Amino acid sequence: MDALQIFQENLNQIVANVNIHAKFLNTLSYMEHIGSYKIISTQHGETIDEMILKHAAEEARHGYYLKKLSHKILPNHNSDYSPSFLLAPIASKQYLSRLDIGINRMLKKFNLTNSEKKFAAYLLVTYGIEQRADSLYPLYQKVLDENQVKISVKSIITEEVGHLQEMNKALERFGKISEDWKQIAQNIENQLFIDWNEQMARDLIRLLK
Ligand SMILES: [Fe+2]
Ligand SMILES: [Fe+2]
Repeated sequence: MDALQIFQENLNQIVANVNIHAKFLNTLSYMEHIGSYKIISTQHGETIDEMILKHAAEEARHGYYLKKLSHKILPNHNSDYSPSFLLAPIASKQYLSRLDIGINRMLKKFNLTNSEKKFAAYLLVTYGIEQRADSLYPLYQKVLDENQVKISVKSIITEEVGHLQEMNKALERFGKISEDWKQIAQNIENQLFIDWNEQMARDLIRLLK
């Protein structure tokens, strides 16, 4: 079974239970929020351009919107981003930093200046995440529709498609990153996605007992 099939199996269980579903939405919200924070914390200052500002703003909006959806399906619950309100809390909290570490480790092998490395890391980390977002959200929307859950992540899907296109263009402009590096970034991300899903599956067994 590939990673997306395991994810789909997890999703089918998630949407069938409103408490778990709210937790899942809160988890996605957290990951989007961390994504936007990470962009701003690494790319701020004189060189930040319109694309990066837009990207950070949209990831922040995704965090807000997913939090709002978690309150829509489970009104009046109080959830912060502490582990008890997240699914697969450890993997969710470590996902972005582990991706960052893996890609920075890979970039050490290449002959780039420090500022080039910083920008290359941003491009490759984001590339890995956007590839994932472009399969994750459409699959989640499909499971929502099949189960007649009346919430929509279509506005996120549209923006994530734009992000991947922008990353591909930015990588092309940057010019120092070959297809092989992109593939390695994707492989690192894929392993993290597998770990995330395995933890989520274990959490689901525990929560549904
Ligand atoms: Fe996003
Ligand atoms: Fe994105």
